[in-house]
Amino acid sequence: MISLQKPIRKAVFPVAGLGTRFLPATKAMPKEMLPVVDRPVIQHVVDEARAAGIEHFIFVTGRNKGVIEDHFDSQFELERTLAERGKKNELDLLSRDLPDPGQTSFTRQQAPLGLGHAVWCAREIVGNEPFALLLPDMLHHGDPPCLAEMMTSYAEHGGNHVAVSPVPEDQTHLYGIVGVEDSRAKVSAITSMVEKPPRGTAPSNLHISGRYILQPEIFGLLERQERGAGGEIQLTDAMIKLGEELGQPFFAVRFDGEIYDCGSKIGFLLANVAYALARDDLGPSLKSELKRLL
Ligand code: G1P
Repeated sequence: MISLQKPIRKAVFPVAGLGTRFLPATKAMPKEMLPVVDRPVIQHVVDEARAAGIEHFIFVTGRNKGVIEDHFDSQFELERTLAERGKKNELDLLSRDLPDPGQTSFTRQQAPLGLGHAVWCAREIVGNEPFALLLPDMLHHGDPPCLAEMMTSYAEHGGNHVAVSPVPEDQTHLYGIVGVEDSRAKVSAITSMVEKPPRGTAPSNLHISGRYILQPEIFGLLERQERGAGGEIQLTDAMIKLGEELGQPFFAVRFDGEIYDCGSKIGFLLANVAYALARDDLGPSLKSELKRLL
């Protein structure tokens, strides 16, 4: 299919969060660098973006996040030592993950004013083109990968897309929630959106799971810096305005894989187990060890 839509080349990763839920592990290390098996959480999310054809990776960082920048750089001494020791597999692994020169950008969110503000911090680097946004806490485990599925839908429909998946009714107040035209369809037009609706008021149980394709007009709306739920500058509020004031369409793409919220301890632990079980080199032995433990 030849797409008439402007291509999505850039992805934004907001990685400024403090990670207080993982103290003391995150006292000196960013939460995005915690490993899920042997890859940092942020690497899994960058992998997903790469698999969807993203060419430029934009990190919105904060204080004490410098090691993320180092992770996506080459490590000359390490590579030389590996080469001297003939560790070809390890060298291949590192070079496979390394972005090409100029493919990464880093900017800082100077104050924790909310997700909308973090995204707005990337406006100069994104420029006037549609972009993907991936929240690193939320690992989407599935084949096809989530953002790749959204790209397929974007090529057909254009506009703005969010990934959604159902949550139990008693958790809708924790997320952005969408109402859709057809809740059973894989892709459906969004009819309403609300950030963290009070209990019992959600338009559905479909939560925004942390993957977005957005048009650049979102930046003009975020520029207003209006506060929403929790006193924060909310991305969802700007998306509502993008639909209502500028008339842009929004689509929900239902993700059918597993989602692990690595911002929570249980989600992070489950992600480690699930990603390891899915690997040929670790799955069988982990399975028998887990059986023994339980
Ligand atoms: C953010 C978004 C929310 C989304 C959630 C997914 O909320 O504002 O719409 O459902 O991520 O994790 P936060 O987790 O920052 O409170």
